[in-house]
Amino acid sequence: MSLSSLVRVARDELYVEGVALARIAAEFGTPSYVYSKAGLVQAYVDFTTAFPKRDILVCYAAKANSNLAILGLFAKLGAGFDIVSEGELRRVLAAGGNPRKIVFSGVGKRAEEMRAALEHNILCFNVESEPELLRLAEVASDMGVRAPVSIRVNPNVDPKTHPYIATGLKENKFGVAFEDARALYQTASALSSIEIVGIDCHIGSQITEISPFADALDKVLQLVDELARDGISLHHIDLGGGIGIRYKDEEPIAVSDYAATLGARLQGHEYQLIFEPGRSLVGNAGLLLTRVEYIKQGGEKRFAIVDAAMNDLIRPALYDAYHEVVAVAPRPEQAARIYDIVGPVCESGDFLARQRMLAIEPGDLVAILSAGAYGSVMSSNYNTRPRPAEIMVDGTTTHLIRAREIIQDLYAHERLLP
Ligand code: LLP
Repeated sequence: MSLSSLVRVARDELYVEGVALARIAAEFGTPSYVYSKAGLVQAYVDFTTAFPKRDILVCYAAKANSNLAILGLFAKLGAGFDIVSEGELRRVLAAGGNPRKIVFSGVGKRAEEMRAALEHNILCFNVESEPELLRLAEVASDMGVRAPVSIRVNPNVDPKTHPYIATGLKENKFGVAFEDARALYQTASALSSIEIVGIDCHIGSQITEISPFADALDKVLQLVDELARDGISLHHIDLGGGIGIRYKDEEPIAVSDYAATLGARLQGHEYQLIFEPGRSLVGNAGLLLTRVEYIKQGGEKRFAIVDAAMNDLIRPALYDAYHEVVAVAPRPEQAARIYDIVGPVCESGDFLARQRMLAIEPGDLVAILSAGAYGSVMSSNYNTRPRPAEIMVDGTTTHLIRAREIIQDLYAHERLLP
């Protein structure tokens, strides 16, 4: 079994850094998300040091995990942020993020969101369409300011990932078609309330091959040259996020290889590079800790019914995603059997893992690994289930970074009819 580097076995049980998961369950209850501060710092440092000779800015994609403590940790390390809503803007600012290091992506920015971002003087808007550009020009002009802009180009390359998380193909809603981008830059350069600062592209997520990144960059550079001929000069190139992680047996791209491949193509180009990694900074630094409530023999399958469910971690149900599941206290004396790990929610799609060999009994703890990215942030209250607590481990210390929701809070904004 390949354990993620997050957890280790000591004294016959699982630890995150210097803290036994059993201790976390006893203190904070289950289900809970558990993160390793050292894991987060390591991933960030690995990324930033991979490009020693270049001016780079790592804008962590807040959507991957926007807990204030995690945003605050990255902010302290000097990170910028990629945001997609006013909500993410407010979170990043509340966590101490520097607005001059914020890039604002997303296809549906509302005028109020543009205004809020302009008020805080963010670094750049990654504009995804002509109507968005025109709206932004109007909002900026009303405010008497110039909006800094990159145009997100859709390079039409296949990122070879799950179709729901591919974004750089012609059929996707993201970015401006490669063929139309040059003309849109010309439109932008004629708008007095728009200041062109860069170019942007993001082709998808959980990408495990280097060639789609290289192909996308080649197309971006082709456009950069054309723009230079049109007299449009840029300050930065934003290459988005998308580096995959190991959930099972993937061979993820080493960030050093990623940097070397891109760096070779960028020789002679002195632009600042912006990256928007999400998953690769947080995915393998977090797990979901849950307790087995029941073992149930169905007609054909054996189920381990745990206290976490699809509302807490939707990736298996939504993308058929694989997350490694490990028993927190192994039972070496007991033969492992095959289980589907399922939650209490009333849906057949409510599974966290299928067909896993485990030696477990009711009451045992299990850890669902690689749940640091797109875990807690995609959780819901379906079935009126409170969202889990979140705990950050730092050495032998634990910090509660999000309290478990209280049931009454879940309907606090609802009103009975008079
Ligand atoms: N930049 C933009 C514009 C994005 O849309 C995304 C992710 C990122 C950066 C960060 O990509 P990353 O480095 O995390 O791959 N919920 C899905 C993933 C959706 C990704 C959406 N965009 C999942 O659970 O796999």
